[in-house]
Amino acid sequence: MRKKITIIGAGNVGATAAHWAVNRGLGDVLLLDVVEGIPQGKALDLLQAGPVDGFSCSVTGSNNFSDSADSDVVIITAGLARKPGMSRDDLLARNVAIVKSCAEQAAKYSPGCVLIVITNPIDAMVYTAFKISGFPRHRVVGMAGVLDSARYRTFLAMALNVAPRDVNAMVMGIHGDNMLPLVRLANVAGVPVTDLLSAEELDKIVHRTQHGGAEIVGHLKTGSAFYTPGLAAIEMAEAILTDSKRVLPCAAYLDGEFGISGCFLGVPVVLGAGGVERIVEFQLTPEEKEALAISEKAVHKQMKATGL
Ligand code: 2OP
Repeated sequence: MRKKITIIGAGNVGATAAHWAVNRGLGDVLLLDVVEGIPQGKALDLLQAGPVDGFSCSVTGSNNFSDSADSDVVIITAGLARKPGMSRDDLLARNVAIVKSCAEQAAKYSPGCVLIVITNPIDAMVYTAFKISGFPRHRVVGMAGVLDSARYRTFLAMALNVAPRDVNAMVMGIHGDNMLPLVRLANVAGVPVTDLLSAEELDKIVHRTQHGGAEIVGHLKTGSAFYTPGLAAIEMAEAILTDSKRVLPCAAYLDGEFGISGCFLGVPVVLGAGGVERIVEFQLTPEEKEALAISEKAVHKQMKATGL
């Protein structure tokens, strides 16, 4: 029996996530959107790639939430995207209402699913989905760390002229300008990047990572990134659907881990069939703790703005 993945929002991120999901043969995909025709057209287009790409899972577009019943994973991408000059926080008021509705419907039709939230500002939106769905914390997770860490790894690989796949690096904290790319732990096949790049070069890479989303919005003008956000969510979904116990940086609900409680924040987690099966805690330096505390404060401010 193939797994079922529902993607709410057939915009660039949702449609790209659907593409990566079928390309990896993860399961049958339902693309949901409120706009008539868009999910149906994009799903039919993608389905027709099957004979060429080789996948045989189904791809369906719908405007009816009832078609999402009994999904294993529901990915929420619906909402407004940033335009130049906007912060992710500027999206909160509009997107909280959208995510509330999505979470409510997802919980109604797929009470046993794992919710992956992409909609920005992600740390507040995944909190919204958590509160509205009533799911246990391990079945609600936010996509941000995989995206931010992918950017961080890309910039390190560019600076070192090495294969991006051999760069191991992680970003923790809020999905925002105060995110925390960990320099101390970044390495190339085990070799610390601090042995390979100067402090000045590393500072530039950290800054570019922290503003990686805005850099793309600045180019696109009409929206934000979607190739890697879509893939990052599918990387998480694959770990859940195949119970692979991947350790990935995700926005998870902290209940004392890293000395933080009561909010979602980007931390390394073990992803498997149960969703967030474990938070991988480790000793932070005083500077890292301070940086994470700044993230925590910013997320609590966002959470307050949701009114939940
Ligand atoms: C980004 O960082 C859209 O928040 C997403 O590109």
